[in-house]
Amino acid sequence: MKRVFRFLAIIPVIMMSCQPKAENNTTLSLGSPSDVVKMTFGLTDAGQPYYTSSFENKDVVDTSFLGFELGDNVSLSKDFKVTNSAQSSFDETWEQPWGEERFIRNNYNELKVNLETAAGYQLNIIFRAFDNGLAFRYEFPAQAKLGEFEVMDELTEFNMANDQSAWWIPTYEGNRYEYEFTKSDVSDLKMVHTPLTMEGQTFVSIHEAALYDYPSMVIKGKGSKKLKCDLVPYSKTNPVKAYLKAPFSTPWRTIQMGNQAGDLIMNYMILNLNEPNKLGDVSWVEPGKYVGVWWEMFINLGTWHQGPKHAANTENVKKYIDFAAANGFRGILVEGWNYGWDGEWMNGGTKFDFTKPYPDYDIEELSRYAAEKGVYIIGHHETGADIENYDSQLDDAYKYLADHGMKTVKTGYVENGDTLPNGLYHHGQAFVQHFQRVIEAGAKHKTMIVAHEPIHDTGKRRTYPNMVSREGAKGQEYNAMGGTAMNHVTVIPFTRSLAGPFDYTPGLFGIKVKSTGYTTPTTIARELALYLVIYAPMQMANDLPENYEGHPMLQFIRDVKTDWETTNVLSGEIGKHVAIARQARGTEDWFVGAITNEDARTTTINFDFLPAGATYEATIYRNADDASWPNNPEAYAIDKQEVTSESVIDFDLIGAGGVAISLKKK
Ligand code: NOJ
Ligand code: CA
Repeated sequence: MKRVFRFLAIIPVIMMSCQPKAENNTTLSLGSPSDVVKMTFGLTDAGQPYYTSSFENKDVVDTSFLGFELGDNVSLSKDFKVTNSAQSSFDETWEQPWGEERFIRNNYNELKVNLETAAGYQLNIIFRAFDNGLAFRYEFPAQAKLGEFEVMDELTEFNMANDQSAWWIPTYEGNRYEYEFTKSDVSDLKMVHTPLTMEGQTFVSIHEAALYDYPSMVIKGKGSKKLKCDLVPYSKTNPVKAYLKAPFSTPWRTIQMGNQAGDLIMNYMILNLNEPNKLGDVSWVEPGKYVGVWWEMFINLGTWHQGPKHAANTENVKKYIDFAAANGFRGILVEGWNYGWDGEWMNGGTKFDFTKPYPDYDIEELSRYAAEKGVYIIGHHETGADIENYDSQLDDAYKYLADHGMKTVKTGYVENGDTLPNGLYHHGQAFVQHFQRVIEAGAKHKTMIVAHEPIHDTGKRRTYPNMVSREGAKGQEYNAMGGTAMNHVTVIPFTRSLAGPFDYTPGLFGIKVKSTGYTTPTTIARELALYLVIYAPMQMANDLPENYEGHPMLQFIRDVKTDWETTNVLSGEIGKHVAIARQARGTEDWFVGAITNEDARTTTINFDFLPAGATYEATIYRNADDASWPNNPEAYAIDKQEVTSESVIDFDLIGAGGVAISLKKK
């Protein structure tokens, strides 16, 4: 592995006349390694710091101001002078223990600017220009004037050069990240979550990386092309955004850029901005597939709480264990196994107990039985967003998992409204800190974490590879709760998934749900394609064992992998269609998934990603010729044919349709 780290001289650049005049008569500029992404930093006459950025010489971000308002009326927004600046370069290729890409190149040029206000407050800003985006973070150095302090507002702006159309979900509306995406011009945005992906001449996505000890960032529209960082407040009654102590570094603000929507999916800048693995040997972190005592509750066949339909009972779980063991699933998620579900748990009304199973759930016997069959039970910690209750049991809860062979836990933070039962904001600083304690408890007990109602992903899986996956978007569960827009899964890869793995829980075969009479807005072929289209190292097959047993389409789920050597986006338009090919890690096998929204369309797959000269047997899982949505959504066909790197095949997708292909080298 090659590591280059060298310091370059400071390069002051003559200001262009259209830019605000810098107080000290210089702007500083920085280009990415191939000069594709460029940025400038400057100060206005009033000493206000700002930056601009471009991609392939096309303006992306116009003059955008930077800074903070702190407690005690300390303003770090103007009267700054540059006291020092330095440039450096970095180039390293690192290996992910698991992921969508085995080797990732981390190559950037960095500019560090040291600033000081007339009143003597110091603030540093560090910019990194990659060939596929710009990132920057603030550093409050240790200084006499700043010990413990409060952040009242982060003033970071993203003043878009173009009024691009943006795909967004709302914030502060009570349902966390679980919304469908809307497309609007930047100038029409109000208060939205990140990743905020924008289409246009340049495709752009704004998000953050390495979020520790600080509130999540959301984006506020200002009725113009100007967007502003809005930090989630501490609580509904406490407007302070963050309690900090110098020295402190904020998360990175990230602006990913590319020529096509698909380029954003293969952009690993956010991971690169996180620190390397801190856990050492993580061979215990194993990607894989799982089933679960889960969907049956969503379609009213079982309950989480005790009673005649209590699903997490020993006999029922054994049925899932048998099914998992026979079909290559490593995990069996069991929800509703512990005390806490028998009341108003969503309002913090009952306290969950993470070491006390219900009487009809024989955890000792089930752990033994699962181990005998070579599988394991995935624990479930629904917290009702009562983080104090969870914190108080954390170590015991994770020891209990480890003692029972549960290598993975699914956590959950369902609450009613915007705030936790104790009044704190769901994505504020206190919850971010709680979430990190959970990751560390998991690491201590060698537990992988799949979090629902999470803090949004900022690439911390690089540093803590046990933080494998999370929800943080509208997932399959909504197909049992009124459905999801047909185009939702064609938006997700370009928006939510840019943050990291998403536990969407694909794999629905019973498209017409018998117990509810509801026809879900999908088809079996599209469900299979989602294993490629929505990346997650732990992928569920969400449906009931009886809907899978003996079904020929199950073979694809049995075969598909969840850990990749490399990922290629073959085609895609946000909200319309996407096709992704991935090579299974450590093998020469490839898998392809292509999906469409509500519209029928022909998708052309060019197999030129395959090695030249090799012949592959393709097994093609598709909608049958007479399939249609909503009348005949479960009709499928499976074809086999030989393909090589020269093959180009057209697939006719029905509305809500898809195609999944497994490719085995002959
Ligand atoms: C919401 C989660 O997203 C879902 O997967 C889980 O079953 C319920 N909460 C109950 O914990
Ligand atoms: Ca959820």
